[in-house]
Amino acid sequence: MVSPSKPILRVLKGETLKHPPFWLMRQAGRYLPEYRALRERLGGFLDLCYAPELAAEATLQPLRRFGMDAAILFSDILLVPQAMGQKLWFEPTEGPALTPIRTRQAAAALQVAGLTERLRPVYRAIGLVAAALPPETTLIGFAGAPWTVATYMVEGRSSRDFAKVKEWASSDAAGFDVLIEQLVEATSVHLSAQIAAGAEVVQLFDTWAGIVPPDDFDRLVIAPTRRIIERVRRGHPDTPIIGFPRGIGSLYQRYFIETGVTALSLDATVPLDLARVLQSRGPVQGNLDPVVLVAGGSALDEAAGKILAALRDGPFIFNLGHGVLPETPLEHVARLSTLIRTA
Ligand code: CP3
Repeated sequence: MVSPSKPILRVLKGETLKHPPFWLMRQAGRYLPEYRALRERLGGFLDLCYAPELAAEATLQPLRRFGMDAAILFSDILLVPQAMGQKLWFEPTEGPALTPIRTRQAAAALQVAGLTERLRPVYRAIGLVAAALPPETTLIGFAGAPWTVATYMVEGRSSRDFAKVKEWASSDAAGFDVLIEQLVEATSVHLSAQIAAGAEVVQLFDTWAGIVPPDDFDRLVIAPTRRIIERVRRGHPDTPIIGFPRGIGSLYQRYFIETGVTALSLDATVPLDLARVLQSRGPVQGNLDPVVLVAGGSALDEAAGKILAALRDGPFIFNLGHGVLPETPLEHVARLSTLIRTA
C-alpha cells in the first residue's frame, strides 16, 4: 500500500508530524454567519441534514475560512434513531425531541432493515464533499455510540439527570440490552455505509459515557463499542476509528485498550500528563476547552501552547475537548488556527 499523504491519515497510522494537523468538533454550525444564513434559507435543521447539496455546503464552510485538515460531515447522531422509526424533531430553542422509547417491546420494534435507504441523502452528501475536498484534507464520518444515542431515545430530549435511562438500564438490563443491541447493529451499518460512500475516518461520539455507573461501564460502553468496531472492520479493515468517550476520567486507558479504537479523542478534563501516557498507546486528539476558545486572548494562547508542547512529540491531532460553542468569536478560531500552524 502507498503510504497516505494526508496529514490526519498519517497521524492515525501512528506518525508524529512536525506540525500537528487539526480539526474541531462541531466545526460547522451556528458560530458561522454563513451557516446561520443557510439555516434561515431552509428552515429546519433536519431539512438541512437531508439535503445533500446543502449538507455538503455546510460541511465545507468552516474549511474555507480556517483550512482545517479534516472535514466532518454535517449531519447528526439522532438521524440513526429516526431512520429506525423513532419520531424526531428539533425545537427551535430546546434542541432535540423524540417520542420516548422505554420498553423492551418498543426497542424490539425498531427497524434496522431499510436504514441505508432512509439515510441515502447522508451518503450522497459524503460523495459530494469527497469530490470537492482539497487533496490533503481528510473526510470524517461519524455516529453516536449506543449509550449516548440511547440517552436521547429514552429521555426523549437532552437531560440533566438521565433518570429514566439509568432506571431502565439498571432495573431491566435484559430489556435495555435489546435497545443497545439494535443500536450496535444500526450504527455498524451506518458507519460502514459512510465509509463506502467516501468517509476516510469515522468517529464514535460517546458524549455521555462519563455518567455510566462504573459497574455498568463494560456492558454499556466498552462492549457495544468493541462490537461496532469489529463489525465495521470486517468490511473496512483499514479505516481508522476515533473514539470520543467524554468524561470517563481514569477509564480512558481501559477504553483505549479494550475497544480497539485506532485513536482516542480526549475531553478537556484529561490532564496533559495522562494524555501523554495514553499517547504512548496510540494517536490522541484534543483537548482544548471550548470555553477557552470563547474566551480568547492570553488564556487561549497559553492553553493551546501547553497542549501543543505536551503532545506534539507523538501522534497528535489538535482538536477541542468538546464541540465549538455557538457564541465562539470567529477571530478566536482564526487565532487558534494560526497558533497550531506556526507551532
Ligand atoms: O461540525 C460537526 O461537528 C458536524 C456536525 C455534527 C452535528 N451534531 C450538527 C448539529 C455532529 C458531529 C453532531 C453530533 C452530535 N449531535 C452529538 C455528539 C457530540 C456532542 O456535541 O456532544 C450530540 C449529543 C448531538 C445531538 C444534538 N444535535 C443536540 C443535543 C443538539 C442541540 C444542541 C445544539 O448544539 O444545538 C443538536 C443540534 C445540532 N447538531 C446542531 C448542529 C449544527 C444545531 C442545529 C441548529 O440549530 O442549526
